Amino acid sequence: MRKTVRDMQKMKADGVPITVVTAYDMSSARLAEAAGVPVLLVGDSLGMVVQGHELPIPVTLEHMIYHCAIVTRVTREALIIGDMPFMSYTISPEQALANAGRLVQEGGVAAVKMEGGAYLAPTIRRLVETGIPVMGHIGLQPQSVHRIGGMKAQGRDIDSALHLLEDAHALEDAGVFSMVIEAVPSALAEKITHSISVPTIGIGAGPGCSGQVQVFHDLLGLFDAYLPRHARRYADAGALIRQALTQYREDVIAGRFPTEEHSFSLKPEVLEALEAADDEADAG
Ligand code: KIV
Repeated sequence: MRKTVRDMQKMKADGVPITVVTAYDMSSARLAEAAGVPVLLVGDSLGMVVQGHELPIPVTLEHMIYHCAIVTRVTREALIIGDMPFMSYTISPEQALANAGRLVQEGGVAAVKMEGGAYLAPTIRRLVETGIPVMGHIGLQPQSVHRIGGMKAQGRDIDSALHLLEDAHALEDAGVFSMVIEAVPSALAEKITHSISVPTIGIGAGPGCSGQVQVFHDLLGLFDAYLPRHARRYADAGALIRQALTQYREDVIAGRFPTEEHSFSLKPEVLEALEAADDEADAG
């Protein structure tokens, strides 16, 4: 049976750390689920690691629906959360509701995530009242990179640390079932985690959160533009794949692939008929 947002909350209550990883397509979703990861986030990080943009800003609602629908179609157990892309939820609570509704209805996700602080409270309330669970996202908000002036850690001075704590409380009061805390000093993330009841999911926010989220491609060495400070590469799948493809190319050039094993045979009588037809054509 699929995990639900309630399972995530129970994990926090039981002190079980929550593992979350991003997934965007059949391979990433199935591999993550087979590894027992209970929560998959279809993140707008797909703008960088799938679409090749520098930022998540070009990602549209249609792109998110497309990827969410794949991930929900090919999984059975994991809770799937879909990211609301830039400009799809900030115009008004009604706009957010209509777009979140599409992610749930057409993308099949059980919850949506949106970046922002206390100002999003009315929007979150509207969605939650309508039956759409919302995950918040505070700290570094990549969709606001132009305002922040880069992908910088947040909450490092008194004002911004207090502001983040207020944001976390405002989101909890508005009804989020969980929240991502990105690129925030560990001690602050831990304080937030202890001062709210819903699970916090950290990325670059230290070990004191209720769980961790990482980008699939960072964990596996599939994104070679850079490795963020918060990520650990658990495998160099990129190198493995490059090596395999080089071998394939060399085998094709050298005539080592395909062999009989990868080919289909023709019945002798069909071959004879073909040769006879060829002879007839030559004679004519
Ligand atoms: O877009 C994304 O993948 C995210 C996570 C990294 C938290 O927002």
